[in-house]
Amino acid sequence: MASTATHFPELSAADLLAARRSPMPDALVAPGPDRTDVDRLVEIALRVPDHGRLSPWRLVLVAGEAKHRWVEQLLALAETREDAAKVRVSTRKLASAPLAVIVVSATIPGHKVPEWEQTLSAGAVCMNLLNGAHALGYGANWLTGWHAYDARATALLGLEEGQKVAGVVLIGSVAEAAPPRPRARAEDVVRWLTL
Ligand SMILES: Cc1cc2nc3c(=O)[nH]c(=O)nc-3n(C[C@H](O)[C@H](O)[C@H](O)COP(=O)(O)O)c2cc1C
Repeated sequence: MASTATHFPELSAADLLAARRSPMPDALVAPGPDRTDVDRLVEIALRVPDHGRLSPWRLVLVAGEAKHRWVEQLLALAETREDAAKVRVSTRKLASAPLAVIVVSATIPGHKVPEWEQTLSAGAVCMNLLNGAHALGYGANWLTGWHAYDARATALLGLEEGQKVAGVVLIGSVAEAAPPRPRARAEDVVRWLTL
């Protein structure tokens, strides 16, 4: 029997994965995942390949009052930037989703497992969050944005030396389904190796 997911019992897991798409950030609204669903999402997020079992990632959960304050502080920082007019708009879009999961790449330099591979594992955490949220009946959007690279913004998250934001994954109920977007065509990007 085909496996099914919690909120879409009519869909096989494969159909569910094939149908996922990202709603716009401001189309993600309350209610967000409750504590049970957050725990499940974290479980799914951490179930990623990780060469050398290094756990080269950290998750920072931002919700409720803390999320409100985080966005307010980002907005204040945005105003100090030369590109304030632009980043103000993108920063405001962080406000509506009830949960942000910041996936932090915490690679171990000089390890025999190349940092590139460790970084890829953090990307897999982000992707699992997108799929996990979708399977639980929520929407999710993986962003970076200026606040992933501005040292004053990453300081708000308590990042340690060398840590980087791999993704800000916004999660919430879907107020408006994402418009379809063109997808890469297999014939443009896939080939069988012939030797
Ligand atoms: C690493 C990474 C960073 C991204 N950062 C942004 C961003 O800062 N702003 C944005 O509008 N989209 C960003 N995106 C794209 C969004 O995730 C976008 O909504 C997505 O491409 C929609 O595709 P989907 O429907 O297949 O999920 C980023 C994607 C990735 C993988």
